[in-house]
Amino acid sequence: MSIDEPGLSSGEIAALARRLNRPIVLVGMMGAGKSTVGRKLAQMLDLPFCDADEEIEKAAQLTITEIFDRFGEGYFRGGERRVMARLMEEGRGVIATGGGAFCQDETRRLILEKGVAIWLDSDVDTLVERVGRKDTRPLLRDGDPHEIIGRLRTEREPHYSQAHLHIVSGPGPHQNTVSRILEALDQWL
Ligand code: S3P
Repeated sequence: MSIDEPGLSSGEIAALARRLNRPIVLVGMMGAGKSTVGRKLAQMLDLPFCDADEEIEKAAQLTITEIFDRFGEGYFRGGERRVMARLMEEGRGVIATGGGAFCQDETRRLILEKGVAIWLDSDVDTLVERVGRKDTRPLLRDGDPHEIIGRLRTEREPHYSQAHLHIVSGPGPHQNTVSRILEALDQWL
């Protein structure tokens, strides 16, 4: 999005929010910007925002790292599946998912059936740069983040590519990504 592309007006965004009859679900790799972009998007559409990882932490009364450390990834995935089922049942607003959620068959089916799935996609360098800002991702602790992210992105792409919309979340400001999502939704709905 450049300065020549003004994007949707506030009236058009309000009209878009009225046409939305299902939750917007952001999927994609760690570091794609799902939580930050989701928050901004929800704010612009005047809709509630929910971060699935935070919901898992609330339900478990533990951080994601603590869940992985004490019970392992399999246990975390079980909690993730249950939380996603509840959020899709509640069916409101904008939901940011954890990077692995859309790769679970049951969760992906639910999201595709009840929501509009948006794949936020970034190249590996951008993802690595962004995840480097936080130290809260257990999958990145044991090894070279560039190698792990590159491998997971390749493995997961067949799942992510089933999302209804594919939006590139480039290295620039997240607001550009939000504007692209609003335009893509406006055309898709
Ligand atoms: C994971 C991504 C994380 C979190 C967990 C596992 C993954 O969420 O759910 O550490 O499997 O890619 P973010 O995508 O918000 O970092």
